[in-house]
Amino acid sequence: MDIERLKLAAIAARKNAHVPYSGFAVGAAILTKSGRIFQGCNVENISFRLTMCAEEVALGTSVANGDTDLAAVVVVADSKHPAMPCGGCRQLLAEFAPDLQVISVTLDGRTETHSLSELLPRPKQGILEKADGS
Ligand code: THU
Repeated sequence: MDIERLKLAAIAARKNAHVPYSGFAVGAAILTKSGRIFQGCNVENISFRLTMCAEEVALGTSVANGDTDLAAVVVVADSKHPAMPCGGCRQLLAEFAPDLQVISVTLDGRTETHSLSELLPRPKQGILEKADGS
């Protein structure tokens, strides 16, 4: 089943996380409607501010491969509660799939599933719609 494959892909990507500062490794895997899977892990930076989230890396990889029709994303962390994508990643994902299925899982198997539209309502309302129509 695709979601099981997606979880395994996220768990595998998590092993490559670069997390010397937080020690909090995250893996992500995006399933596209064509059935392809794109993986990501968090990549921390000594500046802190430039750290990339696992979802961000997975999204960039799917876009770089020309496959932006997103169906689902799995986020995996070794956390007490399933880790939700941060606000910035919600906005990045909503660019391509406002109703994306977001599946957060802990390493010991706790799972929460949400629609991205529930986690980030109205991600685009009014933006770039100038009042004078120009
Ligand atoms: N992180 C992710 O990669 N994805 C999330 O959904 C939450 C947070 C990373 C960023 C940072 O490297 C570490 O987890 C702690 O915030």
